[in-house]
Amino acid sequence: DLHAVLHWAAFCLLAAGTPLMPETPRLCPPSCRCDAATLEVNCSGGRLFAVPSGLPFESTLLNLTRNTIKTLATRQFHNLTQLLHLDLSDNLLTLVEVEAFLGLRSLLTLRLPRNHLKVISVGVFAGLKSLQLLDISSNKILVLLDFTFRDLASLEFFTADGNDFVFVSRQAFAGLTSLKKLAIDGRNLTAVPTEALAQLTDLRSLHLQHLGLAVLPNYSFHPLVHLKELIISHFSRLETLSGNSLFGLNLTSLTIQHCNLSEVPYIPLQPLVYLVYLDLSFNPITCIRGNLLGDLLRLQEFRLVGGSLMCIESGAFKGLAYLRVLNVSQNFLTTLESGSFHSVDTLKTLGLGDNPLACDCRLLWVAQRQLHVDFDGRPPICATSVRLEGWNFLDFAEDELSNLLTCRRPRILNLKSPQVRVDQGHTVEFYCSAEGDPQPSVSWLNPQLRRISTTGRVRALSNGSLEVRYAQPLDSGTYICVASNAAGNDSLAVSLLVQALPPSSKNLFRPKGWSASPSASPGENQKLPFDLKTLLIATTIGFFSFFSSVTVCFIFMFFWSKGKGQIKHTATIAYVPRSAVSNNNTRTGNYKETGRFTMKLI
Ligand SMILES: *[C@@H]1O[C@H](CO)[C@@H](O)[C@H](O)[C@H]1NC(C)=O
Ligand SMILES: *[C@@H]1O[C@H](CO)[C@@H](O)[C@H](O)[C@H]1NC(C)=O
Ligand SMILES: *[C@@H]1O[C@H](CO)[C@@H](O)[C@H](O)[C@H]1NC(C)=O
Ligand SMILES: *[C@@H]1O[C@H](CO)[C@@H](O)[C@H](O)[C@H]1NC(C)=O
Ligand SMILES: *[C@@H]1O[C@H](CO)[C@@H](O)[C@H](O)[C@H]1NC(C)=O
Ligand SMILES: *[C@@H]1O[C@H](CO)[C@@H](O)[C@H](O)[C@H]1NC(C)=O
Ligand SMILES: *[C@@H]1O[C@H](CO)[C@@H](O)[C@H](O)[C@H]1NC(C)=O
Ligand SMILES: *[C@@H]1O[C@H](CO)[C@@H](O)[C@H](O)[C@H]1NC(C)=O
Ligand SMILES: *[C@@H]1O[C@H](CO)[C@@H](O)[C@H](O)[C@H]1NC(C)=O
Ligand SMILES: *[C@@H]1O[C@H](CO)[C@@H](O)[C@H](O)[C@H]1NC(C)=O
Repeated sequence: DLHAVLHWAAFCLLAAGTPLMPETPRLCPPSCRCDAATLEVNCSGGRLFAVPSGLPFESTLLNLTRNTIKTLATRQFHNLTQLLHLDLSDNLLTLVEVEAFLGLRSLLTLRLPRNHLKVISVGVFAGLKSLQLLDISSNKILVLLDFTFRDLASLEFFTADGNDFVFVSRQAFAGLTSLKKLAIDGRNLTAVPTEALAQLTDLRSLHLQHLGLAVLPNYSFHPLVHLKELIISHFSRLETLSGNSLFGLNLTSLTIQHCNLSEVPYIPLQPLVYLVYLDLSFNPITCIRGNLLGDLLRLQEFRLVGGSLMCIESGAFKGLAYLRVLNVSQNFLTTLESGSFHSVDTLKTLGLGDNPLACDCRLLWVAQRQLHVDFDGRPPICATSVRLEGWNFLDFAEDELSNLLTCRRPRILNLKSPQVRVDQGHTVEFYCSAEGDPQPSVSWLNPQLRRISTTGRVRALSNGSLEVRYAQPLDSGTYICVASNAAGNDSLAVSLLVQALPPSSKNLFRPKGWSASPSASPGENQKLPFDLKTLLIATTIGFFSFFSSVTVCFIFMFFWSKGKGQIKHTATIAYVPRSAVSNNNTRTGNYKETGRFTMKLI
């Protein structure tokens, strides 16, 4: 009907008239492509030496990437009040004048990466009150001065990596009250900019790279109470985290990768009880020790890829009842026992590829759980078992598993239990060698059934032997060698009887029959039987006990004389060495030497 036609005609007239109206010019600079629908202007790769003039006022996005723009003048973008996104990546910017972005009051993102900026003057970012994302990565900025970013109260994401910062001033980040995520590169910094970071009261995620530190100091991130994610990467010299270095943080995610840590930082990790994700990949860590990560009770994901891991001890993940993901691929592990876990039932993803795995009963649990565990396309592969070399865990059929992945119980190879009888002072070695699959570990128990350590006068040697040096009568008794592996254990008892020295020996320092090894006959041994260390210790102990007795004596005399009211000025003390005294009744020797001491009382 007529009404509709009139409406239609009016609409057509309006549409035709629009481009002619002076208030909304639809201009587009020659090197750019302006999209009227999205209001985006794409000048990328337009061979521009400067920001073109005559840009449409209502643009929301201006893409100036891959040009050769060198400078941005003051109020360069003044009229683009609707602009939301400005991208100046990959230009040759060396100078950005103060207030260059003034007027961009709606701007949300500003990208300046891969330019040649060396300085950012205070005031450059004035007027960007809505800005949420700022990227100045891969420039050559040397210093961050006080209050550079003070106008960016809405900024949430700030990327500044790939610069040459030599100095980050204490107030550099002042005013960034909304900042949630910061990435910064410390290649040329000598310390964590702790004080500057302290301004970022709302920070949630921090990524620090390339700092040249060997030790992460205490309280490095102390006031960042809201920080949830910390990524430390490529600190190639970092070997130690001080005990309190992570103090004050309440992280849920921690990554320390491509550093030089040789130990899991157990102590610094202890307070992080809310940690869910831990990544220590690409550190030369050799072992995850037992029962030291139990404080991380909410941990769900642990990654240590590309390390130097040779062992994951029993109980390593004890207490971690929610561990779902473990990735220890690209290490030197020969096995991973189910005893390392709190419970293998929670495990959903297991990265064990690229390890020289020995396929035996210790890995049976992995094969049995293969249907419940995701190997992310890299199932474990047997490496060191001759029979199964190259087999992949998915090749095993359910019913043949327990026949293929087997272990052999240890067997101690010694033919008989020795009974050794020696004179006091001899050194005795008991051998114990065992076979089994996997190779059993050998340990020794003393007559009190306590485990013998690898140090001390009586010690377990690394080759499985037990060594008793300078045997004493109280060393007598039954020692037990225990060989154990995943399949069980075997034991062997040996007995030692040490005979006390005959009372006839005269010279305390060169007693007859005292020799360094049982094989050497006493007569042949012309060497001084004590080594220098023993002698030194004995002498020192003697001295200490002598002096303490003398001191006690003097104190006593001092008080006594005080009490009497008359003062003796000198005192002479004669002493007889204790060993000589205690042996006096049995020894008739010439060891009768006594000492004499004169002291002055004050
Ligand atoms: C911008 O223009 C360049 C050059 O014509 C083109 O390669 C690129 O895809 C465009 N980008 C967008 C987001 O349209
Ligand atoms: C600008 O254009 C380049 C090239 O097409 C593109 O890679 C980049 O993402 C664009 N920037 C924005 C903010 O869209
Ligand atoms: C901004 O707009 C004013 C007029 O509104 C004009 O005179 C001026 O040249 C424009 N500036 C730029 C940089 O386009
Ligand atoms: C920053 O460190 C890199 C390598 O670590 C070096 O090449 C560069 O010269 C250093 N820059 C400054 C300004 O010291
Ligand atoms: C890493 O630590 C080892 C010793 O623990 C040292 O020999 C090596 O030089 C360190 N590497 C770096 C890059 O500092
Ligand atoms: C760091 O703190 C720990 C624990 O309080 C302390 O033992 C250590 O000496 C401190 N290290 C330094 C360098 O202050
Ligand atoms: C630590 O963070 C967790 C969640 O990430 C939160 O529930 C807990 O209250 C925080 N603790 C403190 C002391 O801030
Ligand atoms: C373990 O991490 C490596 C390296 O990131 C990855 O390639 C592999 O897929 C991961 N494995 C699993 C099971 O997630
Ligand atoms: C075990 O090592 C010690 C020294 O470490 C050596 O004296 C002894 O002969 C070794 N025993 C065997 C059985 O190889
Ligand atoms: C040796 O095995 C028995 C059971 O076979 C076990 O009770 C014992 O604790 C094991 N001893 C050691 C030292 O592993």
